[in-house]
Amino acid sequence: MSSTLKGRVAIVTGAGHGIGKAYARRLAEEGASVVIAEIDAEAAELVAKELNAEGFRALAVHTDVTIPQSTMEMARLAVETFGRIDILVNNAAIFISVPMSRAPFDEIDPGEWDRMMAVNVKGAWLSSCAVAPYMRKQAYGKIINISSGTALKGSDNRIHYVASKAAILGFTKTLANELGKAGVCVNCIAPGSTLSEENPDEAIIKRRTAASSARAIPRLQTPEDMLGAVVFFASADSDFITGQTLVVDGGSCMH
Ligand SMILES: NC(=O)c1ccc[n+]([C@@H]2O[C@H](COP(=O)([O-])OP(=O)(O)OC[C@H]3O[C@@H](n4cnc5c(N)ncnc54)[C@H](O)[C@@H]3O)[C@@H](O)[C@H]2O)c1
Repeated sequence: MSSTLKGRVAIVTGAGHGIGKAYARRLAEEGASVVIAEIDAEAAELVAKELNAEGFRALAVHTDVTIPQSTMEMARLAVETFGRIDILVNNAAIFISVPMSRAPFDEIDPGEWDRMMAVNVKGAWLSSCAVAPYMRKQAYGKIINISSGTALKGSDNRIHYVASKAAILGFTKTLANELGKAGVCVNCIAPGSTLSEENPDEAIIKRRTAASSARAIPRLQTPEDMLGAVVFFASADSDFITGQTLVVDGGSCMH
């Protein structure tokens, strides 16, 4: 266990599955207390139980990031349990665990479009609103938004998802401007296609592997590949860096 984030408190939304779960574990390994804020209550409890059994400090909070009262309660419970909030990772999304349909742009269901925006964009906004008062009060905080390489390159048959992830790029810059004076840094990570499925079948592995050929480092991307970036943006090492998007994709997208 390292002590880079000793004494810090982190909330990771959507930490019950996939990459968010890996973020929560790594932040805990770096010394932070972690809140597993997740719509799948059972998964959240399981992750928190595992971490606590290993001697880390974790709290599961059943959270729907689209509901203001739910995000406020997430922040309130984080402070009640651990005393403060230093880090928010806006990771929850409609993607795999809560699946999206992959269809041409003119066949996407309007209801699914709205839900996508509600979780992936409004959810990041509401979660940020919920933690901001605590971060302002302590004049310190780190908000890390999760976009996607798809926002920079475009991806067929998921225009609602891509549009939601592109929104996060502008959201990051605006929030960074508005919270800079309060001592809060806001940055963004844009992962490439990552093998984050819990039980991937051969078709999924094949699809994820296909993305590798476009990379300068031509291999499969796993959740572990993002952990250095999340710790960097969560730590004091990035205290003068804000409004930035770091692409973590093995050099597929170089802008
Ligand atoms: N896996 C990839 O290839 C990839 C690539 C680029 C970006 N991303 C992004 O990384 C993040 C994690 O993706 P993942 O691959 O682990 O997928 P995932 O679907 O497993 O993770 C998303 C998590 O958010 C939770 N969630 C969904 N709706 C919620 C809500 N309303 N409130 C709270 N939690 C909710 C899900 O239950 C799940 O745990 C997402 O933001 C995704 O867009 C993933």
